Amino acid sequence: MRASVFVGTSLDGFIARANGSFDFLPPGGGEPHGYDEFMVTVDALVIGRKTFETVLTLASWPYGKKPVFVLSTRPLAPIPPGAVAERMSGDPAEIVSQLVARGIQHAYVDGGITIQRFLRAGLIQRLIITRVPVLIGNGIPLFGATERDIVLSHVATRQYASGLVQSEYVVVS
Ligand SMILES: NC(=O)c1ccc[n+]([C@@H]2O[C@H](COP(=O)([O-])OP(=O)(O)OC[C@H]3O[C@@H](n4cnc5c(N)ncnc54)[C@H](OP(=O)(O)O)[C@@H]3O)[C@@H](O)[C@H]2O)c1
Repeated sequence: MRASVFVGTSLDGFIARANGSFDFLPPGGGEPHGYDEFMVTVDALVIGRKTFETVLTLASWPYGKKPVFVLSTRPLAPIPPGAVAERMSGDPAEIVSQLVARGIQHAYVDGGITIQRFLRAGLIQRLIITRVPVLIGNGIPLFGATERDIVLSHVATRQYASGLVQSEYVVVS
C-alpha cells in the first residue's frame, strides 16, 4: 500500500494555528492546485482524531463516500450522516496492515501528529506540500522531531498566480 500526504502550510511550516484554526489558508482551498486530481487517486483517508474534529466543524463532510479511517485511542464524536468513516487505532504499521486487509492501495494520510508518526515509521511514500505566503509565527507544525534523517527526493515545484508554491517529494529512506 502507498501512503501520501497532501497538505497546505504557512511558509513557516504550520498546518493550523495553536487553536486549530486554519483561517490563514485560502478559503475553499483557493486557486486550484491539484487537490481534486490527487483525491481521485486515493482509495481512503487516514486522519487523526483532531483533524476529524476540525472537519466536523465544516459546513459539510468534505470526503463524499470515500472511506475515512479516523485514528484515535478513544470513542469518536458522532460520524455525520452519509459519511463513510470509522475509528482505527494501533501503531502505523498495524494501521497499514488493517488497510491492506481492506484492499486499500493508496491512502491519504492527514493531520500533523498522524503524518509525523507515519513518516517516522517509514510508511509515507509521497509528500505534496503547498505553501501559502504568510508567516503565522506559531501553531501546529507539519513536521516534528525525528530519530533519524528522512531523506527525500524532490519531484517538482509548481507555482501558482495567487502565490501558492507547491513542492512534491518522494521519500527515499
Ligand atoms: N493545513 C492542512 O492542510 C491541514 C490538514 C490536516 C489537518 N490540519 C489541522 O491540523 C490540526 C490537527 O492536527 P494535529 O497534529 O493536532 O492532530 P491529528 O494528527 O489530526 O490528530 C492527532 C490524534 O490522532 C490520534 N492518533 C494519531 N495516530 C494514531 C494512532 N496510530 N493510533 C491511534 N490514534 C492515533 C490521537 O488521537 P487520541 O488523542 O484521540 O488518541 C492523536 O491525539 C487541526 O487543527 C486541523 O485543522 C490542517
